[in-house]
Amino acid sequence: MLRTHTCGELNNGHAGQDVVLCGWVHRRRDHGKLIFIDIRDRYGYTQVMFSPKDAPQAHAKAMDLRAEYCIRLKGLVNQRPKNNINPKIATGEVELIAKELEILNPSLNPPFEIEDALDVAEDIRLPYRYLDLRRPNMFRLMEARHKLNHIARNFLEARGFVEVETPILTKSTPEGARDYLVPSRVNPGKFFALPQSPQLFKQLLMVSGFDRYFQIAKCFRDEDLRADRQPEFTQLDMEMSFLDEEDIFDISERLFAKVVKDLKGIELKTPFERISYKDAVQRYGSDKPDLRVNKSDPGEFSFVWVVDFPLFKYDDEGKRWDSEHHPFTAPHPQDLGLLDGQDLAPVRSRSYDLVLNGSEIASGSMRIHEQELQRKIFRILNIADEEINSRFGFLLEAFKYGAPPHGGIAFGLDRILSILFGTESIRDIIAFPKTQKAVCPLTDAPSSVSDKQLKELHIKTVGPS
Ligand code: AMO
Repeated sequence: MLRTHTCGELNNGHAGQDVVLCGWVHRRRDHGKLIFIDIRDRYGYTQVMFSPKDAPQAHAKAMDLRAEYCIRLKGLVNQRPKNNINPKIATGEVELIAKELEILNPSLNPPFEIEDALDVAEDIRLPYRYLDLRRPNMFRLMEARHKLNHIARNFLEARGFVEVETPILTKSTPEGARDYLVPSRVNPGKFFALPQSPQLFKQLLMVSGFDRYFQIAKCFRDEDLRADRQPEFTQLDMEMSFLDEEDIFDISERLFAKVVKDLKGIELKTPFERISYKDAVQRYGSDKPDLRVNKSDPGEFSFVWVVDFPLFKYDDEGKRWDSEHHPFTAPHPQDLGLLDGQDLAPVRSRSYDLVLNGSEIASGSMRIHEQELQRKIFRILNIADEEINSRFGFLLEAFKYGAPPHGGIAFGLDRILSILFGTESIRDIIAFPKTQKAVCPLTDAPSSVSDKQLKELHIKTVGPS
């Protein structure tokens, strides 16, 4: 180790010890002959004093220090006099009296200050995201994200869930957005689709008898972007066999009570409230009702299940019925008879959304597990038999092999974290996000490729339309 302690660790208990710290120069102040710097790492800040009398060489080098230089320091921990204690930082009781200084790497003058209270537009911050992420708040958000994943994994593992990775190069799954396509070099003219969700694979795992699956899964959707939408985002995806809605509500509520307790120290009231789709729209004018009494209290988290969604919605433009959720959602058993009628609007589904403070944070359903009913739904959705077979033949085939009754749910992790930590957009809790125009300002992706690559992929471009 190049260091003995972190920059957030030292206190009176270390007084009199020689220690070594590594980090970045946060600030430099010259007081007459003495030079003071704050050295920063992800754990905090420590004040360091360079005196020309005690350590002339280190002091001379400290004259060259500028913001964001990466340095290594050896020094003596000194208890600060009472009137010099800084209660705002964890190490405020002490300072380091520098003995040796090594400049590990100089830094250009950063394009913005590495400060939490920073009012700099995103288009300046995102090309330098690695500097933006040096800000302690950004680090704390990434750490919260890491913790949420950890809590979910531990919670689910203890209850018999198995995490299974499903393919990224796959076939289109209808979740309502456009697909991101990947051309196949060895199969000219054919394309993989990046998954909009692991929906069909998780259902296939139920056919395999996995019975309790989860995955922290990347999903890709080419759709109009908003503050709560990214082209690639992360779901906590779950699927279970031999259960019903009540079991899914119960496990989701226990999981989120733990997440909110561990991340925010707040006890949630369970069970969460429930409201039917019809009531939500009638009473709140939205299927994502915000039931907070506050809406200005950042500590109020109001979870509500929206249930009894319709199975279909009418697409006026296409003059056809479309799925309200996705085509794998089971119809309400009492409404099966209505599937043969003309008006499908009253058919209810066995689907549910979880809404937090007026945002949809999760969605799920009991699924169809009988191939005949699934085929019937595809036909109602006006999908020709040939297309049913080419797109979903593998699923219908799998259902012929004793597919168990099953259901599940997927939580939008980015949205949940953004709401819990009150960030303006989900971009703030994604380490390397895309902009509203679906580009990455750091790497400049997407970018052009060479003619040779296009040729290998059997692709001719016609330029921007
Ligand atoms: P759905 O499409 O509703 O359901 O997605 C589940 C949750 O994922 C989040 N989400 C997004 N988050 C950020 N950016 C996006 N572009 C984005 N799109 C969706 C939302 C949403 O509630 N396979 C089904 C789930 C299931 O039936 O089990 C599915 O993907 O929080």
